[in-house]
Amino acid sequence: MLQPPPNDLDGFWMPFTDNRYFKANPRLLAAAKGMYYQTPEGRTILDGTAGLWCVNAGHSRDSIVEAIREQAGKLDFAPTFQLGHPLAFQVAARVGALMPGDLDRVFFANSGSEAVDTALKIALAYHRARGQGSRTRLIGRERGYHGVGFGGISVGGIGTNRRVFGPGLPGADHLPHTHDPARNAFTRGQPLHGAHLADALEGLVALHGADTIAAVIVEPMAGSTGVLVPPLGYLERLREICDRHGILLIFDEVITGFGRLGAATASERLGVTPDMITLAKGITNAAVPMGAVACRRGLYDTVTGAMAEAAGIEMFHGYTYSAHPLACAAALATLDLYRDEALFERARSLEGRWEAAVHDLAGARHVIDVRNLGLVAGIELTPRPGAPGARAQDLFRRLFDTGLLVRATADIIALSPPLIVEEEQIDTMVRQIAAALDRIE
Ligand SMILES: Cc1ncc(COP(=O)(O)O)c(C=O)c1O
Repeated sequence: MLQPPPNDLDGFWMPFTDNRYFKANPRLLAAAKGMYYQTPEGRTILDGTAGLWCVNAGHSRDSIVEAIREQAGKLDFAPTFQLGHPLAFQVAARVGALMPGDLDRVFFANSGSEAVDTALKIALAYHRARGQGSRTRLIGRERGYHGVGFGGISVGGIGTNRRVFGPGLPGADHLPHTHDPARNAFTRGQPLHGAHLADALEGLVALHGADTIAAVIVEPMAGSTGVLVPPLGYLERLREICDRHGILLIFDEVITGFGRLGAATASERLGVTPDMITLAKGITNAAVPMGAVACRRGLYDTVTGAMAEAAGIEMFHGYTYSAHPLACAAALATLDLYRDEALFERARSLEGRWEAAVHDLAGARHVIDVRNLGLVAGIELTPRPGAPGARAQDLFRRLFDTGLLVRATADIIALSPPLIVEEEQIDTMVRQIAAALDRIE
């Protein structure tokens, strides 16, 4: 046994968890290496979800572990308010170099949620600095997930994440989501139908007035609400409408950043450049928490330049742990691994094999849709009458108990393995899912 299981599970109020169910039926992870987790009893679990879409280079990579260890003994913490430490500038330059266009000014946070709230605040600060302080409205999209801060849930489009917590940011509004199972089910890659859904932004402009809208934020490929791949032409159209009305476009790439779609960013992969990109997860291979916002140079210049005559702090925003030294050390080692092992290119070269394998599930029991892009797949199941989500939860539990980690959201199973996944492991995942689907009701 790797570790004795804890005998008191009461104290930890678990996030996004059915606490009462879990504590009666705990499923624990005690160690991880490469493509596999181990349970406290020593059972091996193949990781089909890169943890939570974040361990892109595989678990406990030696060079990242060593970099964190060394940094902890050298400089454990340094403030980045009015001071700096060298690694922070190095990470910013390395991240900036991976971004499309001139998005090479990087603000650091500690999570995806913080990155999103930071990007929304930068959008407001930018417009105000240009003398357009009336632009305060933020637009998200139905079925969008942008973390759990008040900004993120306001532009997010998941009812359960918002309902309990009051009205959120005043004036936030939403585009329709892009999921159209009637026309696009079982599409391989980007669906053909749906570019016109971007035109709803023209409707919101007509309703509210462009001079009240600061930014639109979307996930280029929505992950958490079940792998919604952008229709061909949709993001291009959104970009065009934003440009026409002086609205900033933010891509939330917390999941899609760092190789998930076979390129450094979804923006690069899909050929559409936003004004800001939010990042987290894969930036440190999830070994130390870190989030970031990559901004176009003009945004940085505008916000920092606005105060040029009245020297002082230009934007009153930041976190004690912005660019924490351990996170920076982990990020540099992670970015080295991505480069040295060409992991983004690897993801791209595996994509055809991945696509063919997951679409083999098209005929499996309960399956009503399979969709994919990069090293991501969504497998949607018919919901049980009167019990939405129950079938996918059962599948998740059965798979975990038989050695495969997947992510269940509503009645959708999402797969997003580390980019080091081998072809045989892809086959194992698909085989295990098909077998489990045969066994669940
Ligand atoms: C697109 C997107 N944005 C934001 C977040 C929030 O990130 P975090 O959980 O690190 O706050 C997530 C998390 O899954 C995400 O997928």
